[in-house]
Amino acid sequence: MKQDFLKYQAQTGPTPLGIEVSHARGSYIYDLDGKSYLDFVAGVSANTLGHSHPKVVNAVQEQAASYMHVMVYGEYAQGPAVELAKLLAQQLPEPLSSTYLVNSGTEAIEGAMKLSKRATGRGEIIAAKHAYHGNTQGSMSLMGYEERKKAYRPLLPGIKFIEFNNEKDLKNITTKTAGVILETIQGGAGFIEPKNNYLQKVKKRCEEVGALLILDEIQPGFGRTGRLFGFMNYHVTPDILVMGKGMAGGMPIGAFTASYDMMAQLKEAPKMGHITTFGGHPVVAAAALATLKELTTTTLIKQTLEKEKHFRSLLVHPLIKEIRGKGLMLAILVENAEVANFLVLEGMKKGLILFWLLFETRAVRITPPLTISNEEIEKGCNTILELLNEWNNQNVN
Ligand SMILES: Cc1ncc(COP(=O)(O)O)c(C=O)c1O
Repeated sequence: MKQDFLKYQAQTGPTPLGIEVSHARGSYIYDLDGKSYLDFVAGVSANTLGHSHPKVVNAVQEQAASYMHVMVYGEYAQGPAVELAKLLAQQLPEPLSSTYLVNSGTEAIEGAMKLSKRATGRGEIIAAKHAYHGNTQGSMSLMGYEERKKAYRPLLPGIKFIEFNNEKDLKNITTKTAGVILETIQGGAGFIEPKNNYLQKVKKRCEEVGALLILDEIQPGFGRTGRLFGFMNYHVTPDILVMGKGMAGGMPIGAFTASYDMMAQLKEAPKMGHITTFGGHPVVAAAALATLKELTTTTLIKQTLEKEKHFRSLLVHPLIKEIRGKGLMLAILVENAEVANFLVLEGMKKGLILFWLLFETRAVRITPPLTISNEEIEKGCNTILELLNEWNNQNVN
């Protein structure tokens, strides 16, 4: 399979990890040779409830047997999407009550950018240096990393950058600004948390000049940081909330949420300000609804903070310089990219899945399913410590 994978399936990089997947359950992925891999990555924060959680599988199977695609987004009332949007509104603070469902994180970002322009009548968007918001051309225009995007220019005009956590830069948000888009916790940059009430200060500045605060919760959202959404930790409410990844327990989805009145502007003058064929797909929405119900009726979200403590207490080693992030959105910072590569590649050989961050080459992500057990945490952390000792031995002798 690997040969055909490399030959016929378009690749994203020169050296894909290439595990030949047979099946996956809970915190484990199994390959065609029957080898098991303990998953500390969860499909990059997407498998919130682990692999093939019975409630998600059941929701998908029941919905697929009942109906799948029946009409483009927004024309027919379909139970799973309606219930999902309603339950989200019940879980979110005012005025976040109207959700537009799409197919991926980047599409949700595109929708949020458009909505901010439509709602303010302005054209400028401000993003953060080292930000990542997706790979379509609008989202890529927000990427705070020139070397990753220069081959694809021209991109969107009217994008400015500020430094995350730098209050002095807030003066660059002006009456020309439609929206300021920030990751609640910067992911690709190295799991950087907002400091000193930074997000509150951004929101205040936005209110002063009539700009909208857009928070990208595609990674921290859906319980990963001890609250349903990361922003709930920082006493701020965005004007537009963007979500994706872990939302549907392993099915492809994205969404953006705003007030009813703001969102209503997309539907007229001109009508169909945002349209999508498959957005709100009933099978995907059923998976998201099952995921959200599980998260809101169990202690899984609260447990992420206990599990974070467990990780932090176990991952003590001279080669670990820092552990960044919150809850089960953690990144180990090691001395250099070579050590990070060693952990990811040798970890795979030992049956532990780890992965890199997009821009911070010294970091290794730990974003397991929220359902991971303490024993699994201990097993994976022991492997990491073993690997770091091996690195030390190889590089001393
Ligand atoms: C913070 C953030 N925003 C946006 C995206 C894009 O989401 P998608 O890959 O579903 O388009 C990602 C994906 O990694 C992300 O981490």
